[in-house]
Amino acid sequence: MSIEQLAETARAMVAPGKGIIAIDESAATCQKRFDGVGIASTEENRRAYRELLLTVPKVDEYLSGAILFDETIRQSTKDGVPFARYMAEHGMIPGIKVDKGTVPLAGFPGELVTEGLDGLRARLQEYYKLGARFAKWRAVINIGEDIPSGTCIEANSQALARYAALCQEQGIVPMVEPEVLMDGDHDIETCYEVTEITLRSLFDALYQHNVALEGTILKASMVVPGKDCEHQASVEEVAEATLMCLKSTVPAILPGIVFLSGGQSDEAATAHLDAMNRLGPNPWPLSFSYGRAMQQAALKLWAQDMSGNWAKAQDTVHARARDNGLAALGQWRKA
Ligand code: 13P
Repeated sequence: MSIEQLAETARAMVAPGKGIIAIDESAATCQKRFDGVGIASTEENRRAYRELLLTVPKVDEYLSGAILFDETIRQSTKDGVPFARYMAEHGMIPGIKVDKGTVPLAGFPGELVTEGLDGLRARLQEYYKLGARFAKWRAVINIGEDIPSGTCIEANSQALARYAALCQEQGIVPMVEPEVLMDGDHDIETCYEVTEITLRSLFDALYQHNVALEGTILKASMVVPGKDCEHQASVEEVAEATLMCLKSTVPAILPGIVFLSGGQSDEAATAHLDAMNRLGPNPWPLSFSYGRAMQQAALKLWAQDMSGNWAKAQDTVHARARDNGLAALGQWRKA
């Protein structure tokens, strides 16, 4: 696989006005979301819900791709078309979550490390055959009393770099995601410092592992105050802090950066992305790879009446994709 092919996929993922929907919740996370709206997390319900999200008419105008979970990439529409094939035929690039989730980092209370490297080469080969052209690995960095430690950041960066190198070896674009969590009462400056150190460490590790940045996408968290911080920041403050942090850590050769929503409201996630693009031109396209901020309205509607609200729920996904697509161009207008 040539770097040029990886670069082409990476550029398509962040094509102007387009972003990605993350629907790669693990079975446990899906159960949590379904519990929240009173639906049983059965395999068929998960399949039906993912079908709703992936078959929104004309959504490829604003979505370049979707991140699937292992179970989902093996599932099909009710008419028997495998989801990955359906996506490819409807202008969307299939992606796959390949990490196996987080476990406590031994010796470092309150800190996590992401697992999933064992056997990853063979899994990537299979995912490629199933149609995946990009893959996601999420590392989690917690902010708290005396954390994160350098050891935690380093361990997660090394894992991200090893996964990214394996992806590229198999012709798959790595979407590297070091998520700095919003949990806690820390201020925006603390989030800035932690994000800066985390990104520096990540790009060092990618360099050490010979990862071609032109065939890599960064999935970043925004620089925001903790959820319980007394001083919440304005849209402009978040946009300026996030941009400054990214500009000082992320090489310009990267084809694009997409953001996670991380528990922000739908409107905040869109407003922040829009504000960052209005502050451009920036060194890279800035777009979205939202999970909750793309899905939460649709999930609520679908849960109320699975067949009766199908079209209405799809309309909300389309509307969220359009708003975020406009925000990726700095052209969103608050309703
Ligand atoms: P949220 O946008 O809900 O944070 O999810 C995105 C994601 O894929 C986190 O790994």
